[in-house]
Amino acid sequence: MTTSYRITLLPGDGIGPEIMAVARQLLDAVSSSHGFSLVYDVQPMGGVAIDATGEPLPNSTLEACKTADAVLLAAIGSPQYDSLPREQRPESGLLGLRSALGLFANLRPVKIIPALIDASTLKREVIEGVDLMVVRELTGGVYFGTPKGRVEAEGRVRAFNTMAYFDDEIDRIAKVAFELAVARSGRLCSVDKANVLDVSQLWRDQVTAMAADYPAVELSHMYVDNAAMQLVRNPRQFDVLLTSNLFGDILSDEAAMLSGSIGMLPSASLGSSGPGLFEPIHGSAPDIARQDKANPMAMVLSAAMMLRVGLQQDAAATALETAVDRVLAAGYRTGDLMSEGCTQLGCRAMGEQLLAAL
Ligand code: NAI
Ligand code: MG
Repeated sequence: MTTSYRITLLPGDGIGPEIMAVARQLLDAVSSSHGFSLVYDVQPMGGVAIDATGEPLPNSTLEACKTADAVLLAAIGSPQYDSLPREQRPESGLLGLRSALGLFANLRPVKIIPALIDASTLKREVIEGVDLMVVRELTGGVYFGTPKGRVEAEGRVRAFNTMAYFDDEIDRIAKVAFELAVARSGRLCSVDKANVLDVSQLWRDQVTAMAADYPAVELSHMYVDNAAMQLVRNPRQFDVLLTSNLFGDILSDEAAMLSGSIGMLPSASLGSSGPGLFEPIHGSAPDIARQDKANPMAMVLSAAMMLRVGLQQDAAATALETAVDRVLAAGYRTGDLMSEGCTQLGCRAMGEQLLAAL
């Protein structure tokens, strides 16, 4: 009997359905050539779900995610919902999904693909050989802390959020980063703002204490402002970067730019049990939606992460990644990566090339 996995697909909004169609085609091909099968359950989430049900994350979608072996998300969001209150917008569906699935660990690999060395705005000698992993805490910190809100008193308006972590929340994300460091080069840099913030001092204390369990890991600490600078000055100094929710959001977008396009970068969000969520780091790109212009590679590489990390199908994951490398090496590019001497393709045609390379 062939192994079968249940995958919940969330195509979402904007370019989401276009890039999801490409990923699905490739997943079908790679699963049948590697002797397993994928059973999809397509569910509405984000703006499409708001249109259909009034809610960005309907209960039926959440249940389908909870019972799946893995969840693959394209992107959600559209300017048409900007006037809705925050908790009714597409983005709150995503925050709700991450928190309902307990996805506290966000992994964002940034690896320079040799064929794209000149696609970055940074100099070749700065980014050559970069291969790092940002480990971002995803369900705590200032995005979730309470109290939060906006109050009016004596003619002034005051708004506030709370940056807070429990020691065990820090420990579980630190453990993910230490384990990754062991499996990679052994270097781990924890990023905080311990010179100013109490919550960062606790972060640093917990991470430092855990280092005793990992004698093979070379741990360093860096303040977030310096880390932002070092990422563009000399990114090769980093292997695993561990950080909290807000700092990780900012630093991982900055790190993404080392690779040339946000359309190239996948991510995985994991909990301590249950299915992981795999998605490109970019959004729904409303400016190019429905024009067959989107780069599907971040989506395809997210599907590869799903195969490797979520389903332990390592060979199939590598096959997808190799197809991406080959198509780029052959000079095919979507508009976001276009440079002289290359052949420009739309999203669908890029999907066909990837399938052929596979
Ligand atoms: P975005 O990532 O959607 O777009 C930023 C820029 O990158 C745009 O110029 C876009 O055309 C380009 N781009 C993004 N992905 C691309 C791809 N695959 N191929 C080619 N070009 C690509 O970020 P933006 O514009 O800030 O947000 C748009 C919407 O997406 C908003 O509603 C936002 O809330 C949502 N969003 C959703 C995320 C998610 O689903 N995880 C993450 C970030 C934003
Ligand atoms: Mg972001």
